[in-house]
Amino acid sequence: MDKTMLPRHIGIIMDGNGRWAKKRLLPRTAGHVQGAKAFRKCLRHCIDLGIEYVTFYAFSTENWKRPQDEVNAIMKLFSDYLDEGLDMYEDDVVMRFIGDMTALNDELRAKIDKMQSETAGNHGTVCNIAVNYGGRDDILHAAKVLIKDGADPDKLDETAFSERLYTAGQPDVDLIIRPSGEQRISNFLIWQAAYAEYVFMGVLWPDFTESDLDAAIEEFAKRNRRFGGV
Ligand code: IPE
Ligand code: IPE
Ligand code: MG
Repeated sequence: MDKTMLPRHIGIIMDGNGRWAKKRLLPRTAGHVQGAKAFRKCLRHCIDLGIEYVTFYAFSTENWKRPQDEVNAIMKLFSDYLDEGLDMYEDDVVMRFIGDMTALNDELRAKIDKMQSETAGNHGTVCNIAVNYGGRDDILHAAKVLIKDGADPDKLDETAFSERLYTAGQPDVDLIIRPSGEQRISNFLIWQAAYAEYVFMGVLWPDFTESDLDAAIEEFAKRNRRFGGV
């Protein structure tokens, strides 16, 4: 793979866990367990490829609508992941959690803070996990911060606005991958994806492998990005 053609920032909508489980006559939560494994593999592969930024959509602001036991199972998976810590392989990754963390319980938030602070000084791939994340909430939150900071509306520009988003300091997302056959954004990175390339894939997230990521990146490399120019 030609390294110069790599996207700087990849966004991944980890979708299809429920359908993966249903196909196997398993409870939906079994799909989330398998999905968490696919996440680890995929993060590792991003590190291997030297991807600078990757954002995984793990739980949306709308996902609270799901049955309580499913929400609890997903929160438990986050908690287990945070307890497990990063393996040696992921040693140099910078872990960031984006979204409205105030809705999470104190214990989970403390674990998130710990992982973020322990990895903040690293130099490798920046991995954002989007939890209780919504693109609209991201924009609304940024607007509230600007108002609270007393920002001057006449001086406000896109750069200053971007610096108030949860992804402040990071480049816009270049490539958004959505497995599971759905072709929509579902409130993911809507500001940051203004000029993203989309790759939709039929594979269900728990079955997503390194070669699926490679295929999406190869597809991205073939696209002609114009950003409104000619
Ligand atoms: C994605 O898989 C996981 C989350 C949204 C937390 P889904 O649970 O949405 O799987 P499907 O779409 O029902 O198959
Ligand atoms: C998007 O998937 C959210 C995550 C993958 C975390 P959903 O399954 O919630 O999206 P919709 O409801 O199909 O649009
Ligand atoms: Mg889904």
